[in-house]
Amino acid sequence: MDISTSPGPGLLEPDAAAFLAQPHRNLIGDRWQEALRGTTMEITDPATGALIGRLAASGSADVDLAVVAARHALEHGAWGRMPGSDRARLINRLAARIQDSGEQLAQLESLDTGRPIFECRLVDIPGSVAMLEYMAGWATKINGETMQLGTPGTLHAYSVREPVGVVAVIVPWNYPLELAVWRIAPALAAGCTVIIKPAEQTSLTALRLGELALEAGFPPGVINVVTGTGEEAGAALAAHADVDAISFTGSTEVGKLIVQAAAGNLKRVFLELGGKSPCIVLADADLDVTIPGVAGAIFFSSGQVCTAGSRLLVDERVFDRVVEGVASYAAALKIGHGLDPETRLGPLVSATQRDRVMAYLDAGRRDGARYVTGGQRHGETGYFVQPTVVTGTTSQMPIYREEVFGPVLCATPFKAGDVDAAVAAANDTVYGLHASIWTQNLKAAHQLAGRVKSGNVCINTHNFFDPAFPMGGYKQSGWGRAAGFPAIEHYTELKAIAARL
Ligand code: NAI
Ligand code: MG
Repeated sequence: MDISTSPGPGLLEPDAAAFLAQPHRNLIGDRWQEALRGTTMEITDPATGALIGRLAASGSADVDLAVVAARHALEHGAWGRMPGSDRARLINRLAARIQDSGEQLAQLESLDTGRPIFECRLVDIPGSVAMLEYMAGWATKINGETMQLGTPGTLHAYSVREPVGVVAVIVPWNYPLELAVWRIAPALAAGCTVIIKPAEQTSLTALRLGELALEAGFPPGVINVVTGTGEEAGAALAAHADVDAISFTGSTEVGKLIVQAAAGNLKRVFLELGGKSPCIVLADADLDVTIPGVAGAIFFSSGQVCTAGSRLLVDERVFDRVVEGVASYAAALKIGHGLDPETRLGPLVSATQRDRVMAYLDAGRRDGARYVTGGQRHGETGYFVQPTVVTGTTSQMPIYREEVFGPVLCATPFKAGDVDAAVAAANDTVYGLHASIWTQNLKAAHQLAGRVKSGNVCINTHNFFDPAFPMGGYKQSGWGRAAGFPAIEHYTELKAIAARL
């Protein structure tokens, strides 16, 4: 397929095309509303740069309406009085609606983000369904405890977990549906109401999610969706005095702004931010597993993954073989429009992101890094960047230090058997989100896992996610854990009650 002449929307099946063609407005309560001041923003196809639709560009007045709707649903609607079993039923119904609309959602996601449709089918839809089903299970199992205090028979003391309240969920553009779902699922299980603010580059599936939530029977105002820029709609949510908690996923830079904005009413903050995640390869690793494993860790979603394995640290005895293998893997990836089922590497999400990644590549070249493969834009149309493997970096180069968020891998050898050097390199970063260790030596693997400072460590795999596997960051990669019971705890207040008998 020639990406310069194939506009993406023509590749959609009818129900995805119909959704794209309909007006895109905010979901406030059970009403679909334009931005109050009438402003819109553009939806583009990252593979071609073509304009494919418009979204409401909301301001703080729209955010205010959504917060009122969410507050009302929490305090005065059926939701606040609903037993956990009924919340669970609604959450499971939403999971089923997503499953039924899976192909439509996958196509919309692929078109909007540029990511290969095969990824959206494989990861985004099943991952969203699985998280809702898992969290629906918790809705009936959120308990406090009794405390045995004082002289027996004189006190009755116990605790309960209550919903933290109105939760704002600010979502980035790499996994728009799945990240929205992963953040709202524990909040809904806990009994909160939510306002989703998708990224301005990729809002389509959040709006479809809003439709599906109404179809599933969620009371009005439990799930609201407001589209708009981060600077306006996002900032208004972060600063809002009647929002009780905020869940932010995105850049570390904006994460710090969220913390400052949240200080106004000391709302609770969940952050999942950037990473510079290492893949450590020991000399005894099974290279048939390791090479595709570490290559997939960086090239999946064109490296636009918070947990992307962007630093490859390899024992010098196998360094050349691993780098050659990863470079051949990269060179063989079929680059194309995300909606082409054969595509394995799509464009980056936006011209801005492509230019950001190219700036790192150009600086790396000036700094004397060596490009084993890639290093350039791919084609003239759209936001494509070649899959790139870089060697000869120093630990001071920005391409090695900073989150590039593109298909760019920095490969670095460490001295034969010098695990201390590998650990030091892995931990030489302000981030600590994800890491992987590749070896057949179980003892070495678990000992190393204990020394890497990051929220997740994988052994002989990378980018491992599961609704029951707490996920989150050390250091500047964030606060709190998504998934597992820690996510539920985050969306509850613990109240302790004592009665003198
Ligand atoms: P960003 O952090 O600006 O955007 C993420 C979300 O935050 C979007 O919904 C955006 O509208 C919102 N936002 C932006 N400014 C805001 C503000 N002042 N207040 C409230 N919300 C705000 O990310 P951006 O600029 O699109 O990408 C820049 C870099 O961020 C990437 O190169 C990558 O390194 C990193 N990033 C990391 C992600 C992750 O999953 N950890 C996801 C997206 C980006
Ligand atoms: Mg887009």
